[in-house]
Amino acid sequence: MSGVPVVERWEPGKTPDGLRTRQGALGAPMSRLDGPLKTSGTAVFTAETRPEGMCYAFLATSTIAAGRIVALDVDAARRAPGVLLVMTHENAPTLGRPDLFVENPVDGAAFNPVPPLQGDRIDWNGQPIAMVVAETLEQAEYASRLVVAEYAIEDGRTDLDALLHEAEPPDSVLGEPACLAQGDAEAMLDASAYSIDADYRSPRMAHSAIEIHACTVVWRGTQMVLHDASQLIGASRKALVKMFDLEDDALHVVSPFVGGAFGGKVLWDHQILAIAGARALQRPLRMLLSREDVSRFTGGRTETRQRVALGADEEGRLTALIHTGTVANAMHSTWPEQFSFPARHLYASETVKIEQRVVPLHMMPPAPMRAPGEATGTFALESALDELAAKIGIDPIALRKRNEPPRDPSSGLAFSSRRLVEMYDRGAERFGWSQRSAEPGRHRDGRWRIGHGMATAYYPYIRAPGAQVGVVLGVDGCLTLRSSAHEMGMGTVTVQVQHAAERFGLPVSAVAFEYGDSRLPAGPAAGGSAQTVSLLAAVMDAAGKLKDALLRLAGDASPLAGLQADDAEFRAAGLGRVGDDTRFETFAAILARAGMDQIAVEGVGAAPGELEARSMHSYGAQFCEVCVHEGTGETRVTRFVGAFDCGRILNARTAASQFRGGIIMGLGLALMEEVQFDPRYGRIMNPSLGEYHIPVHLDVPEIDVIWSDVPDAFAPLGARGIGEISITGVGAAVANAIYNATGRRIRDLPLTLDKIMR
Ligand code: MOS
Repeated sequence: MSGVPVVERWEPGKTPDGLRTRQGALGAPMSRLDGPLKTSGTAVFTAETRPEGMCYAFLATSTIAAGRIVALDVDAARRAPGVLLVMTHENAPTLGRPDLFVENPVDGAAFNPVPPLQGDRIDWNGQPIAMVVAETLEQAEYASRLVVAEYAIEDGRTDLDALLHEAEPPDSVLGEPACLAQGDAEAMLDASAYSIDADYRSPRMAHSAIEIHACTVVWRGTQMVLHDASQLIGASRKALVKMFDLEDDALHVVSPFVGGAFGGKVLWDHQILAIAGARALQRPLRMLLSREDVSRFTGGRTETRQRVALGADEEGRLTALIHTGTVANAMHSTWPEQFSFPARHLYASETVKIEQRVVPLHMMPPAPMRAPGEATGTFALESALDELAAKIGIDPIALRKRNEPPRDPSSGLAFSSRRLVEMYDRGAERFGWSQRSAEPGRHRDGRWRIGHGMATAYYPYIRAPGAQVGVVLGVDGCLTLRSSAHEMGMGTVTVQVQHAAERFGLPVSAVAFEYGDSRLPAGPAAGGSAQTVSLLAAVMDAAGKLKDALLRLAGDASPLAGLQADDAEFRAAGLGRVGDDTRFETFAAILARAGMDQIAVEGVGAAPGELEARSMHSYGAQFCEVCVHEGTGETRVTRFVGAFDCGRILNARTAASQFRGGIIMGLGLALMEEVQFDPRYGRIMNPSLGEYHIPVHLDVPEIDVIWSDVPDAFAPLGARGIGEISITGVGAAVANAIYNATGRRIRDLPLTLDKIMR
């Protein structure tokens, strides 16, 4: 284990870290440690928690998009069998506004700023209007159907296209300016040798996690424990404590297993009302949503209308890059989905115009859904690049390479690491891009037309400030990481155990990770592809503190006596002098001499100062082969290659799975996903997995994923995060392949057969 010096205190971009490039437990394709618990059915998910004396809640929801409740008849519901409580705006506790994630990514948890059941106002179709609690789930659901609401209906704002003229830029887009201009892009567009100017559309989409949103409130004395399916338990707890004005220790949140989240498992009305119901009845309570209610009030990806216009000179150098557009938002939401982010960082252009606008509608508050903005933004931008390449008559990869920027085009900062050109080349090689016909419609197999397309993938590097991890080292030589982090199926626990094993010189079997409980040191949210690196930075800080503490503890009788921290390294389940095998002592021996069972330290991740020094993003190249049937327009994706540059890869198996998962979700975005929203009523018409289509096994071809695995000098362990990038670019890669197969350019997601045959 020794040889490479390990420096535990990590400073962004300054401190060399021997673990960056060391191959061992870290990087290995280790199977998920939580896998056996899940495949054997022994993992207890939120809705499987069974406290004694539990009651069940079900929600009644509005059937109008906008207006007021004039009368609410709950008598029949109250008299129904087993009913314990009917809560409406007339008897609900007064609740403060929940802290929003967009306004406070560390302590905010909600995406709906309006607390439930606080008044007669209706702002979307599907908004909860009453909670019924009963002895059984069936009784609660039945009684919820007996709630009768009389409304004063207003004309709803439900049609984005009809209201586009009202669109306004928001104050900012996640801290970035909504509008950017370099030069006069419109004038340059008109004067360019080549240009394209096109409008793109993307519909609402639904997260469709297989585990339905649920929570169970359990009482422990006067304390409430909220078992939640959540990707931000620490922030949820803080928000709920504040809303209900509780003592700080009156509530804690646990979430050991989450069956998929994708951005949708945040704080919504159902957890808030579950707390209210459990408190009113002083009983344990479960709220398991129906799949329909998941669709009606737990967010979803919002719809976009985008324009991309590109101008280029004779050689294909961009003279104008214009990406503007509008997203729909809920009436009170403050998060404008960031579709314009990719265009800010991907290409060099002489002039640039970027504008994001928002139209508030009577719709449920949207939530982030895997690469929110980047997934739909790359559909438009990367389709447009393909259109320009066809117009100029240049290879789409050559066009992108020609416009590779030397520095970040919007911030002017140097890149921390950017190997996009390498990923174009490696992906192209793997895919066999050179066999592609530049002219559409040249390859066929019987009545199937075969086409090939590519697109760039993009996602920013994000790291949460202040993430905390406790490290407990026992005299038995076992080490435990403790942090309120989340395992939603992506490999969090496995990767952190691999890292700690490598960092502290232990076998992976000697490392455990306690997570998913808000009583643990405050970990980051699982969002923005940032949880892993945020935890890594905290563990690195803890490692420095543990080394200092052990050296102090070792004392004069130890072979480590007098050793300075810089000269000491973790190895072979102990501490030793760098490059000196004779000066070494095991953790067990140090602790035993001191008469201690264990030693504990706490690490904190510093603020992400690395982002001030460098432009930090991940990149990729997506390659797709489709067959389009000339008689029916049916599209089948037959091959897919994704090549990603995300810095160091920490676990080859879980990373490959994340990349494939994102690509599969991208195939859904490309070909089938669409929340059908009826603008007459503002009502979602397909609130089920029967009618909202996502890819199933037969829709998914073999997916080949490769990666650069080159550490980023400015990121902890050189890793930049991998959870979201692989959905980006997929929509465009498929659209570009359909164009290559058929000569038909579809700019309206999803790319269904009716649009191809039209
Ligand atoms: Mo993600 S959409 O930041 O969970």
